Amino acid sequence: MADFTPRVFSGIQPSGGLTLGNYLGALKRFAKLQDQGIETLYCMVDMHAITVWQNPDDLRRRTRELAAFYIASGIDPERSILFNQSQVPEHTQLAWIFNCVARMGWMRRMTQWKEKAGKNAEEASLGLFAYPALMAADILAYHATHVPVGEDQKQHLELTRDIAAKFNHDYGVDFFPVTEPMIEGPATRVMSLRDGSRKMSKSDPSDMSRINMHDDADTIAQKFRKARTDPEPLPETAAGLEDRPEARNLVNIYAALSDRGIDEVMADVGGKPFSEFKPMLADLAVEKLAPISTEMRRLMADEAEIDRILARGAERARTIAAPILRRTYDIVGMVG
Ligand code: TYM
Repeated sequence: MADFTPRVFSGIQPSGGLTLGNYLGALKRFAKLQDQGIETLYCMVDMHAITVWQNPDDLRRRTRELAAFYIASGIDPERSILFNQSQVPEHTQLAWIFNCVARMGWMRRMTQWKEKAGKNAEEASLGLFAYPALMAADILAYHATHVPVGEDQKQHLELTRDIAAKFNHDYGVDFFPVTEPMIEGPATRVMSLRDGSRKMSKSDPSDMSRINMHDDADTIAQKFRKARTDPEPLPETAAGLEDRPEARNLVNIYAALSDRGIDEVMADVGGKPFSEFKPMLADLAVEKLAPISTEMRRLMADEAEIDRILARGAERARTIAAPILRRTYDIVGMVG
């Protein structure tokens, strides 16, 4: 395999409210990678969002809100390339090539397709089915080598590897890197506060199941206070969290928010009853999240500035993606 320079790419859909899951599973880690000095590209994937219906005004607002969220969470638009997917046409151009590389059977096996299309697959959009090929294009348009995501994106990243490998094999080249997923840390799967077996998600009908990034301090405290748990106090050590998904989830959240490992956290909070631990967790969450939502609101007051940042980000992204797309067209045999 050819040597590819380390380059990080990741994306988030501007399709709804942002949750603590998005923050801990993705954004917080994006900022860390940027701060380590690796080349980083972060994207608002509006093309992915419209695979299910989006009201146009909401999509516009949420895209800008997501840009503000990225910046408020520590993404510096100078050090990282921060942009909106639809402003870089190379993503969809490369996605078409990948639609012709990927197989129907691969797409049909995707858990997210099965969950989102459900029994109503005939009525789902063609875009929803092809979603993972566009995701592969997002990543491979930059020859990105590393992709930080939460656990729920693992299968899509495996498919990205399959697409890269099949393209390289079919055309007899060593052109696309086989990307490494980065699914690390205590918060790769933040669970619902109402049900420790389900992922915390913006689409859960119960608002009590999640912490939204825009929740105020009282709401955050109330949601953690009401979070479902078993009646026992926390165990003394991490091993005791094994069969206690709700307790484990709250400890994972605490560890991720405080940038500490589980063992270190358990040395502090092990043995405490939930009546003591939950307020500690709520205080920590408010301390970490309040500055982000305040900064988000400040940034949202100047939409023109956000739009300027995104236009500049798209321009920078295109300087990388355009030559890679051109070379892909050459490999495929397109005259131009
Ligand atoms: P999306 O918009 O659903 O989620 C954005 C990121 O947040 C993570 N995440 C979570 N992590 C931990 N616990 C949770 N409860 C939780 N909920 C969400 C997701 O794993 C993700 O990292 N298909 C992607 C967007 C995408 C993309 C890409 C990602 C499009 N192109 C290219 C990486 C590279 C998605 O729908 O993420």
